[in-house]
Amino acid sequence: MTTVLAIETSCDETAVAIVNNRQVCSSIIASQIPVHQQYGGVVPEVASRAHLETINGAIAQAMDQAQLGWDKIDGIAATCAPGLVGALLVGLTAAKTLAILHNKPFLGVHHLEGHIYATYLSEPTLDPPFLSLLVSGGHTSLIYVKECGRYESLGETRDDAAGEAFDKVARLLKLGYPGGPVIDKLAQTGNPQAFALPEGKVSLPGGGYHPYDGSFSGLKTAVLRLVQQLERDGDPLPIEDISASFQATVAKALTKRAIACALDYGLDTIAVGGGVAANSGLRQHLQAAATANNLRVLFPPLKFCTDNAAMIACAAADHLSRNHISPITLGVESRLSLSQVMKLYQ
Ligand code: KG4
Ligand code: ZN
Repeated sequence: MTTVLAIETSCDETAVAIVNNRQVCSSIIASQIPVHQQYGGVVPEVASRAHLETINGAIAQAMDQAQLGWDKIDGIAATCAPGLVGALLVGLTAAKTLAILHNKPFLGVHHLEGHIYATYLSEPTLDPPFLSLLVSGGHTSLIYVKECGRYESLGETRDDAAGEAFDKVARLLKLGYPGGPVIDKLAQTGNPQAFALPEGKVSLPGGGYHPYDGSFSGLKTAVLRLVQQLERDGDPLPIEDISASFQATVAKALTKRAIACALDYGLDTIAVGGGVAANSGLRQHLQAAATANNLRVLFPPLKFCTDNAAMIACAAADHLSRNHISPITLGVESRLSLSQVMKLYQ
């Protein structure tokens, strides 16, 4: 049994959690969303300062909620890449300080590996290999999960990530930040067939389309043109119909590629992770297509789809149980491919 305290500060949530293997002992998430809403998006310097103000209280709360002493903690971890450098540094420095103070092993964790591990929190018996569909604010990828620390990217978006597309479309509809949850809610009462929008296929040099790569920037531009056209015509904006049509297009595009990829690689399980895994349209489309193709699809509970530290602790516990430990000199990186996760450990 391995118990880890982990800190996540890669973007706009200050999160601390304690996890025993795949079981959550405590999970604290202090969201900065209200702080950034006034700017319409995350301001990196504001995020770093807010993490600094919140981190000590969040650590104390996580220890208190878990009702465990430091002697029961086997390791201390923090997200070290990818993310906002200043924000990552706050969590990493706090974790290193705790590790030195309490004489515990220290582990840096790749944020996207954390999103993959979020599925284990609700499906503790899941084991690789499986396909991970990662759909967050910064990434959209199809990952072949081989084992702890071994990942192969099979497909990705060539431009905007799925969450970024939700946020940008919400901004042009003047719906505020973050866009995903608002569009999801408005889409419930809209007609998904009201407007035909492009799915964002990626052409191959020899003809045809890439089976697993996609692009969301054309879709975002198509929504912009549609809004401009409707405004020129002087019509009131049918925000619910636009939201429903946009959401259905994203859900269809992601579903088609994930199902094709799982079938081609003979993987019978698709585990979805990242903030957009909370999207009701994606959940419905992917579940229906998976059932029709005899595939299993797993979605983490909503609280573990968006950024949290329990998923980071879960990944760290698995690494620690294999004696993967990071050097205390480990730094943060704004970008790091998932295939390079093992370079974080000695
Ligand atoms: O994984 P996450 O919390 O942070 C990153 O690692 O990026 O994902 C945040 C993204 C945001 O773009 C947000 O708009 C999107 O996830 N999101 C959603 C929903 N909830 C959050 N997108 C669509 N539908 C949702 N219900
Ligand atoms: Zn994330």
